[in-house]
Amino acid sequence: MEFFIDSADIEAIRELCAFLPIDGVTTNPTIMTKSGKEPEQVFAELAEVLSEDQKIIAQVVSLDYEGILAEAQRLAQIRGGRNVVVKIPVTREGLRAIPAVKAMGISVLATGIYSPDQAFWAAKAGADYLAPYVNRMCAYGDGVGQVVELVRTLAQYGMGAKVCAASFKNVDQVHRLLAAGVPAITVSPDVIREMVGHPGTSAAMDTFTADWERAYGRTSL
Ligand code: E4P
Repeated sequence: MEFFIDSADIEAIRELCAFLPIDGVTTNPTIMTKSGKEPEQVFAELAEVLSEDQKIIAQVVSLDYEGILAEAQRLAQIRGGRNVVVKIPVTREGLRAIPAVKAMGISVLATGIYSPDQAFWAAKAGADYLAPYVNRMCAYGDGVGQVVELVRTLAQYGMGAKVCAASFKNVDQVHRLLAAGVPAITVSPDVIREMVGHPGTSAAMDTFTADWERAYGRTSL
């Protein structure tokens, strides 16, 4: 399975990649603007901080067919096109653009997915990844349940598209999708930090160190 960081915060990406086997980074236009930097600078920094094995997944901004095609070609040049995936929204123009962008040899992640039906059509159009917005879907119904069902639907038809679950607000949503076997997921730095930190672990280590020091007068073996 693949685990991505949903962020353009270079310091947060550097911090997490230093101790976790992260498979790459996803951004969207809003995430890019939060960096406070020009897009070219963010892409250059991502290319510097990530290895070539780690994917850079970046989104087009234009919403018309021609604009999507042109921007997909530009984004595909980040880092010389190595391991780059272009995010295209599942609008009518986007669904039309997906096969055309794929025909250019560019990998595609279909984004802005609020329903399993939109995801189904993006998969049929040839998208490599499908990004259902789990937390946002929860505003309309059982977002987590719908994404679990989507994974099953794709498997039933043997469709190659991978679900890359996105838009999480808490660890429980992430946990439930991991337990259901979601093949890819993208999560914000804050939620990833919550996943790996537990007060019980810190307390246990403090007790081990204190017991050892009391007995042996040192804090190492
Ligand atoms: C992923 O790639 C999406 O753009 C992102 O997860 C959306 O997250 P949000 O719902 O927190 O904005």
